[in-house]
Amino acid sequence: MTGLDRVLAAAKSLFAAHPDMQAFVDWPDDTPSTGKMMRHIPATDIVAAFDRAGTDSTQPLVNAIRAAAQDGYWIRTYTEEEVGAHFRENYGYFELVGPTGHFQSDSLRAYVAYWGPGLNYDWHRHEAEELYVCLAGGATFHAEGREPVNLAAGETLFHATNQSHAMVTTDQPILTLVLWRGAGLAGLPKMDAA
Ligand SMILES: [Fe+2]
Repeated sequence: MTGLDRVLAAAKSLFAAHPDMQAFVDWPDDTPSTGKMMRHIPATDIVAAFDRAGTDSTQPLVNAIRAAAQDGYWIRTYTEEEVGAHFRENYGYFELVGPTGHFQSDSLRAYVAYWGPGLNYDWHRHEAEELYVCLAGGATFHAEGREPVNLAAGETLFHATNQSHAMVTTDQPILTLVLWRGAGLAGLPKMDAA
């Protein structure tokens, strides 16, 4: 079993114990490995050394992500012009499951995503519906039509199709599993027009 196999197994175990996740999607049975290779960015090393504790239910996935951080194909959607150099050096994600993930699925996208402390992830949106699962750390989430929510380890948060949302971290980072479903599954988030 590779490190990423263990991340997938831990994500499925968390799913099996988490009613919010089960209400959001059916975890696909058949998610063949695509053999996608690793890709290094600054967040790779930050996540490999991640030291925030999760909950009893999220900690096994946090541990598996840490251990397999160097195996992930880490990417950043946004350019330096959009978010600045500091933001880009302190965030990143890899697609664990999905149309272009380490494990292939056309019905679910599951990203492992990290943001460091003191970041302002500005207003953005995407067509796919989204469930954030906070694994460790925390952040404040803003969304169109809703009061801000402070998300802590073990908690989830839903965003509807094209619902504009933003995220702010203060004194702690946040490590998340982000699930996408529905139309736009293979798309990308876009910053709202200035
Ligand atoms: Fe989102």
